[in-house]
Amino acid sequence: MQELSLGGRRVLVTGGAGFIGSNFVHRLLALHPDVHVVVLDALTYAGRRENLDGVPASSLTFVHGDIRDPKAVATAMAGCEFVLNFAAESHVDRSIETPGEFIQTDVYGVFVLCEEARRVGVKRFVQVSTDEVYGEVLEGSSTEDWPLNPRSPYAASKAGGDRLAYAYWCTYGLPVVVTRCSNNYGPRQYPEKLVPLFVTNAIDDEPLPVYGSGLNRRDWLHVDDHCDALLTLLTFAGVEGETFNIGAQHELDVLTITATLLRLLDKPGTLIRYVEDRPGHDRRYAVDSSKLTRVTGWTPRISFEEGIVQTVQWFRANESWWRPIKQGDFRVYYERMYGQRRVLAGGQG
Ligand code: NAD
Ligand code: TYD
Repeated sequence: MQELSLGGRRVLVTGGAGFIGSNFVHRLLALHPDVHVVVLDALTYAGRRENLDGVPASSLTFVHGDIRDPKAVATAMAGCEFVLNFAAESHVDRSIETPGEFIQTDVYGVFVLCEEARRVGVKRFVQVSTDEVYGEVLEGSSTEDWPLNPRSPYAASKAGGDRLAYAYWCTYGLPVVVTRCSNNYGPRQYPEKLVPLFVTNAIDDEPLPVYGSGLNRRDWLHVDDHCDALLTLLTFAGVEGETFNIGAQHELDVLTITATLLRLLDKPGTLIRYVEDRPGHDRRYAVDSSKLTRVTGWTPRISFEEGIVQTVQWFRANESWWRPIKQGDFRVYYERMYGQRRVLAGGQG
């Protein structure tokens, strides 16, 4: 079977103004300059038009719109043969506060996209899901056939979108590929997530709020490696209807990451503040991504040691990117999320 060709095609990237979506757009056009990218993005608090600065204007159509809006979706998808859906409400803590928005975008939005993709007859639809759909994995690592047991409103909504996209393959033959990636880090990650929050707080000598014991474990993958896996799956032959885990096999707990960041920034451990835990905090996620490697040959190229140094350097060099964010509505969010949080004596679970 032949790989699908991207040459001269239109590719719709929803959520392309967010963290992973924007990194994907930059990478796609660097490798395939003849592709035309359409970004559909609602520019929520997490989406930034400037994340696409540097993309040649002739290669990009930006549609400011919502994936829940069939008209905006039809406008954006017109003429596109490839679709990648990154658009989502993506932060677990916010999903605990406002779960409804997550269900709206991460489930209903996927429905609107799938309907239009079916009508248009796209060649491939990549639904960017997450390893959090498996829920807490205390031992071993989840393969794609593991049961889904999402435990946060974010993870549950993503599981809904994940299986809805799959249902469009089973029912209507929409050529869907579902991906479940572990935690990403890298440039332009919105500073509500662990790595960018702690890097930017530490630069400003602000406390680093570690939830509970700080022993919660995640697998950490550099965003470029995630984007390369997605690029591979966008065109790889014969994988319609398949689900692929994407991971680095590099598990770290929050305290180890925190210590690494403090060391790289030459800041003291006294910045660590143990605070009241996140409700329902999943202790561990771990995915087995051997299927992706076996089928496509993809493997991660960037070690955590290298990727985290590069990421810290990026945040140091790009204060003009994150300072305005942290001074705006983010302050209200931060006060709401962290202001009333009980400080723990030290590492209580
Ligand atoms: P992000 O929050 O940085 O970006 C989300 C983007 O989607 C933003 O640009 C936002 O404006 C846009 N958006 C939100 N709601 C929308 C709507 N209704 N219509 C149109 N656009 C909308 O998220 P991210 O970290 O870049 O994650 C991208 C995708 O990857 C998400 O689907 C997420 O579930 C998945 N994922 C993320 C990680 C991670 O570690 N960040 C890991 C695995 C999977
Ligand atoms: P996060 O970046 O929110 O990703 P996710 O919960 O989707 O994996 O959090 C990563 C880990 O860091 C998770 O175990 C929660 C923890 N964490 C803190 O300890 N303090 C914080 O302020 C944040 C945002 C996260």
